[in-house]
Amino acid sequence: MVHLGPKKPPSRKGSMADVPRDLLEQIAQLEMLFTVDTAKLKAVAEHFKKELEKGLSKEGGSIPMIPTWVMSMPDGTESGTYLALDMGGTNLRVCEVTLLGNRDFDIIQSKYHMPPEMKTGTSEQLWDYIAECLLQFLQSHHPDGNISEMHLGFTFSYPCTQTAINNGILQRWTKGFDIDDVEGHDVQPMFEAALQKKKVPVKVTALINDTTGTMVASNYTDPETQMGVIFGTGCNAAYFDVVKNIPKLEGLVDLDPETPMAINCEWGAFDNEHLILPRTAYDVQIDNESPRPNQQCFEKMIAGLYLGELHRLVMVDMHTQGLIFEKQDVSKLKVPYSIDASLLSQIEEDPFENLSEVQDIFESRFNITTTEPERKLLRRLAELIGTRAARLSATGIAAICMKKGIKACHVGADGSVFNKYPHFEERGAQALAEMLDWKDLRPSKYPVKVQPAEDGSGVGAALIAALTVKRVKEGKAVGMRPDVREKYLATVK
Ligand code: GLC
Repeated sequence: MVHLGPKKPPSRKGSMADVPRDLLEQIAQLEMLFTVDTAKLKAVAEHFKKELEKGLSKEGGSIPMIPTWVMSMPDGTESGTYLALDMGGTNLRVCEVTLLGNRDFDIIQSKYHMPPEMKTGTSEQLWDYIAECLLQFLQSHHPDGNISEMHLGFTFSYPCTQTAINNGILQRWTKGFDIDDVEGHDVQPMFEAALQKKKVPVKVTALINDTTGTMVASNYTDPETQMGVIFGTGCNAAYFDVVKNIPKLEGLVDLDPETPMAINCEWGAFDNEHLILPRTAYDVQIDNESPRPNQQCFEKMIAGLYLGELHRLVMVDMHTQGLIFEKQDVSKLKVPYSIDASLLSQIEEDPFENLSEVQDIFESRFNITTTEPERKLLRRLAELIGTRAARLSATGIAAICMKKGIKACHVGADGSVFNKYPHFEERGAQALAEMLDWKDLRPSKYPVKVQPAEDGSGVGAALIAALTVKRVKEGKAVGMRPDVREKYLATVK
């Protein structure tokens, strides 16, 4: 499928003629709070670039910049059948991917529900559940039981320090997970123990991040891809650097300095020290009330998990000030995280001039009767929050382009916000054009194209498993020298 590039960002303010003056003033204030102009975007991108470099340095910074031990892009000839498993927030997906050796693939997959309690349950429950799903998958797709041990690419999209391609010490949970006894531990032995207990004939060949999988899978079908980004429940990016540009690996690897190394940025942690991002009081509240304050501060302004909450906090605040929903019972609206990003999408997409769909949603979900001017304010607020998220997310892409001197490339993007939030792609592209000073402002001419990715946690994970098997066969390194692992682990946070 040819991607034609983003359209012009829409401007759909609608008529504000009937909106009373006090609400218009509120809208103007919200516009000031949530608008990030070109100058600020450029300043954020500049700072971001320095922080990416700091993350690669020996001293480190707040962006983890994790070397992943994925050391090449696929060349398209990869072949064979691999398993891929993705532990997402709501689902667990298991795939069997057959790489056909011609930049094409076949895939079969099953999805298993992740019970929400599991996000805060015990480590044992988590690993047993995942192993059980894998077993069920194999039993239903190979009923004859005739399976020799298969290689698995395990997409575990949380910040993990990796000393080799198949391990990962969880630095900290993100995206609302909070399971005891996993942080600070290598997840691979825990998972393999659960697999062995259930006699699942699977070997964890590669532990990967969703961004790395997205980049590799997109590059397989579109070799111009140089970055993978996720804008979903969380937000993050991966790109390739070379060993000589990663000072924190100095003296720890026997690799040619020009060896490529995929970096899982974990850029959700950008500006945890609050130096540059234009945080509002609502952003500060989200952060303070989250299970991990002062962590993932960039992510908390952008990712799907938080956009609805931001909108809700503004509404509750305006109601408390007596500005909206007068004399209404807002108890349902006061429940934290009762709004998710999909509701904002619905608000933005209401096709009716009087926003009657928004009216129906607020009646049925919150027992709140809205006035038309209130609904116009709510829609403008959704636009502002969605636009800010898209513009800020582009600062990370611009920073990687600036750091690497990339003038043109494709970026594979995935995640519910990128795929479903209205106009996210166009708004982000417009911001990139502003930051990188593109002269030809026709979107079809944009040199850096952020476009829908190939399936990272299925095809990408399988490809990385295939690349790893190949490297091992060739006797090439798939991790750092064993004698220096402890030294490295002592230096990373
Ligand atoms: C969070 C995770 C990161 C992941 C991103 C997108 O930021 O820490 O590993 O890539 O969400 O899923």
